[in-house]
Amino acid sequence: MPNTKNEHISKLKHLLSEIAHLTSALEMLQWDKEINMPKKSAEMRAQHISYLSGLIHHKTVSLNQGGLLTRLERALDKGKLSPNDKALVSEVLRDFKREQKLPQAFVEELSHETALAYGAWQQARESNDFSKFTKPLERIVELERKQAKFLGYTNSPYDALLDIYEPGMTVAELDILFFELRDSLVSLLKRIQKSKYKVDYSTLKGSFDLQRQMKFNKWLSGRVGFDLETGRLDTATHPSTITINPADVRITTRYQEDDVLNAISSTLHEAGHGMYEQGLLLEHFGTPLGTSISLGIHESQSKLWENLVGRSKAFWKYFFPKLQKEFGKPFSKLSFTESYEAYNMVKPSLIRVDADEVTYNLHIIIRYEIEKALIEGSIEVKDLPSIWNDKVKEYLGIKVPNNRLGVLQDIHWSHGLFGYFPTYTLGNLYSAQIYVAAKRDILDLEKEISKGHFEHLREWLRKRIHMHGKKYSAEKLIKKVTGEKLNSSYFTDYLEEKYKEIYRLS
Ligand code: CO
Repeated sequence: MPNTKNEHISKLKHLLSEIAHLTSALEMLQWDKEINMPKKSAEMRAQHISYLSGLIHHKTVSLNQGGLLTRLERALDKGKLSPNDKALVSEVLRDFKREQKLPQAFVEELSHETALAYGAWQQARESNDFSKFTKPLERIVELERKQAKFLGYTNSPYDALLDIYEPGMTVAELDILFFELRDSLVSLLKRIQKSKYKVDYSTLKGSFDLQRQMKFNKWLSGRVGFDLETGRLDTATHPSTITINPADVRITTRYQEDDVLNAISSTLHEAGHGMYEQGLLLEHFGTPLGTSISLGIHESQSKLWENLVGRSKAFWKYFFPKLQKEFGKPFSKLSFTESYEAYNMVKPSLIRVDADEVTYNLHIIIRYEIEKALIEGSIEVKDLPSIWNDKVKEYLGIKVPNNRLGVLQDIHWSHGLFGYFPTYTLGNLYSAQIYVAAKRDILDLEKEISKGHFEHLREWLRKRIHMHGKKYSAEKLIKKVTGEKLNSSYFTDYLEEKYKEIYRLS
């Protein structure tokens, strides 16, 4: 065992780098499984992945061998560490202590039950029969409540779960943010629906050669600042971002033959995630200082490029002529305004992932209210279909025809992901507040964007957010970047201003 504080820090970094190399290999195998793996290799690949996962777990739980973490915690408590080492040690301790709180038998039980629940969910969804999912989901909810107890909480058991995905966030804070947001969205939606002015997304549909789409999306991802020399764009059923290391970030998108903008919005989304990962510093690879802050902050980067930039008038000024030139019809027959408005059509729909900017967060709020109540024990699993349908009617004004298009649409609960959904909406709220700060800091940002100059914004995000890794908590970062704590009014003001103009609201 080394003796000095600096030796302890180097030892910790060395152990973390071993875990990081193994994790990179694992991520690479996962990416390849999605994109390239020959069919018959599935069984062997599962063995490789399971072995590596076990090894990573073993190395993670062994971090405190010889009392390394205990010694570093003492140094931390005595205020003896530099700011970077302080962030490094406290984040490692945070994760390590959480792992310690969950008994091995519990972790195994949860993973066993979620595997069963996932199968049951698939069957329930296929046969449109919620009752097939009731029992397995009851088991999951019970285990999630147990998990909350193991992890510990002061007010709501849901706080403990939320903290896994968005460290520091609480029900008390979310209730305020989401309550204000919900009322404002419901009333904006009603005004939009009453408007006599209509816009129609279907005017943007056509027939678009897939090879051409792929080439164009690759160009676009690079154009906004996703570095194609330290990353790739490929095709997958479920778009995602997989990081091998900051110099090797792999994003995926999906293509529809009749809708080129579908791929474009998902490419911009993943490019936003990808640029965050590319902006982390290689020198901190494998440590908390080289890791993103939270799911909410990650999602703020994707939503910023997908929506705040990608669906803005400024971007459309740059982008629409490119779209016309590359694909011709239907864009060649539409005016700038017609196409911009059609791309921003607001229409309540049943499926979350198809939702527009105004209704998307209502889908999330429905899920938040339900999962919080399940974990707090104020509702029961068997009543979910009717609770779900009532909320969809109340907030979105539409009737749910069946559970497949309702309560059974998302994979999350079958995987035991309770506390995860709110991070999608937090991402939207963060993104709007961050974008206002960017416009304040960067001279004529929107004018620059309309000329295709995205580098100012990308550099600003890199310096203000990406390169710091986990040095600051989400709460501290938002205060540092925007000057105040998270506030839903930036997002609602953004929507109000934008959709007032599009829908000619008074
Ligand atoms: Co995302």
